[in-house]
Amino acid sequence: MFRNCTLSALTALMLGTGGAFAAGGEAHVENFSFSFEGPFGTYDQMQLQRGLQVYTEVCSACHGLKYVPLRDLEALGYTEEEVIAYSAFYEVFDPELLDGEGDFRPRKPTDHFPTVTSAGAPDLSLMAKARAGFHGPYGLGLNQLFKGMGGAEYIASLLTGYTGEEKFEAGTVLYENTAFPGGWISMAPPLYGEDVEYADGHSNDLHHIAEDVSAFLMWTAEPKMMARKQAGFAGVLFLTVLSVLLYLTNKRIWAPIKRGAKES
Ligand code: HEC
Repeated sequence: MFRNCTLSALTALMLGTGGAFAAGGEAHVENFSFSFEGPFGTYDQMQLQRGLQVYTEVCSACHGLKYVPLRDLEALGYTEEEVIAYSAFYEVFDPELLDGEGDFRPRKPTDHFPTVTSAGAPDLSLMAKARAGFHGPYGLGLNQLFKGMGGAEYIASLLTGYTGEEKFEAGTVLYENTAFPGGWISMAPPLYGEDVEYADGHSNDLHHIAEDVSAFLMWTAEPKMMARKQAGFAGVLFLTVLSVLLYLTNKRIWAPIKRGAKES
């Protein structure tokens, strides 16, 4: 009986979470080793800066980051002036300008990154979280649990997963991709390697560029990851100390009774 219940629960889980992926065969997600993995992992500021560069020079043509305030870029190590200069690259329509007629003006650090819809591409602000789990065996998210594989791995695998095959279907070109559920994506390969020139001289082959922009997109989706890990660690430490204290208190409270029991 119990075994039957477990089996049907497992089947339901597999059907429920793996459904989207089961439709078009195996979607393969590579295990990249990111600096922010594990309980003590931290973002690598230089990598996030390189990722921002890749986003700016390549991805921003089609993808927006509408939930990310530009001023947050100071967390990547940029000065206030640098963030002001970067923000001004993007224009925004301000309805209050020209006595209420509205006009375009350069963005300020208090504005967000632009919303981009022209290419029919999804916003990337939270993509690394949205695609965090549910790959790996049976779509149960086990790889995320055991290998720390999450949305950043998925994005990096997607960017490096093109096979070079294309087909024309229902009026659009589809590109074969080993990481994309279903195997065919309508995004043309955005990166080939050496698409950007890094100021710090870091390697700019396809693998590294994909890794850098994925790390950056992990940061946009979870800018406070390090604070969360620290709070978690403090919590575990506190609970450990509390457990020890409770154990000792418990021993002390019961000691006279145990002693009495032995003597009688
Ligand atoms: C020429 C336009 C274009 C460029 C440039 C571009 N993309 Fe895309 N991207 C798209 C479109 C269109 C889709 C939707 C594809 C689909 O659902 O078939 C997409 C989808 C995605 C997805 C979501 C895949 C999913 O699981 O649904 C990710 C992640 C992504 N792009 C990342 C990037 C990154 C990172 C870059 C920069 C290196 C980039 N894209 C550059 C057009 C573009």
